[in-house]
Amino acid sequence: MSARGQAFGIDIGGSGVKGALVDLATGDLVHERIKKATPHPATPSAVAETVAELVAESAWDGPVGLTLPSVVVNGVARTAANIDPSWIDNDARQLFSQALGGREVVVLNDADAAGLAEDRYGAARDTEGLVILLTFGTGIGSALLHRGELVPNSELGHIEVHGKEAEHRAASSVKERKGWSYRKWSSQVSKVLITLENLFQPAVFVVGGGISRDADHWIPLLANRTPVVAAHLRNTAGIVGAAMAVDSGIAP
Ligand code: BGC
Repeated sequence: MSARGQAFGIDIGGSGVKGALVDLATGDLVHERIKKATPHPATPSAVAETVAELVAESAWDGPVGLTLPSVVVNGVARTAANIDPSWIDNDARQLFSQALGGREVVVLNDADAAGLAEDRYGAARDTEGLVILLTFGTGIGSALLHRGELVPNSELGHIEVHGKEAEHRAASSVKERKGWSYRKWSSQVSKVLITLENLFQPAVFVVGGGISRDADHWIPLLANRTPVVAAHLRNTAGIVGAAMAVDSGIAP
């Protein structure tokens, strides 16, 4: 942990780039989130410029953790399922470090960051066994954690469930696009959860993403056997997890 027990996290999403300084003793933000609109097209150089503006506004001059909705290996983005394809094979760590005056940065998958945060401070805090976090949004993100250790880049949203990719079956964007009720959508989510619990035997599923705000409407409708709990940190999990990652040097 840094001398002050604080680190800066930035969550890069399809609509917003959000960042804040995080108190690592509690997982709380030290100040209100700074939010910028994601540039369009969200190319690496345009996003790096937005990140630089955000950090300049904060006056933070230490290391920065950042999330991307991509597989990230050694700081390099390897996939771009729901973001600009020009991210593929981009050395995001180098890009952001340069944009931030050469400082130390860590880049990791957005759901992995949320998983780290929920595992340490949130919904999975007291869980002994395997934790699977799933974020429901445009796609489905995933994080696998065991006793605080992250298995990075699990990408369970792309697993095939009864002949169809999980995120094409049950992302919250599918519910919106098709105008489904919670009952109809949750039957698709159940299929995904049953497939995953048969493969991994998790102790708990933590569900995040905007739709987890309405978790009371749909968690009770799920038909799988593993307990499902709503994420606690909601819209700060990515920021907090990114700050944790740069603080502990996790660099998938
Ligand atoms: C991507 C993941 C990402 C998730 C949530 C998926 O389409 O493949 O890398 O974590 O969306 O943004």
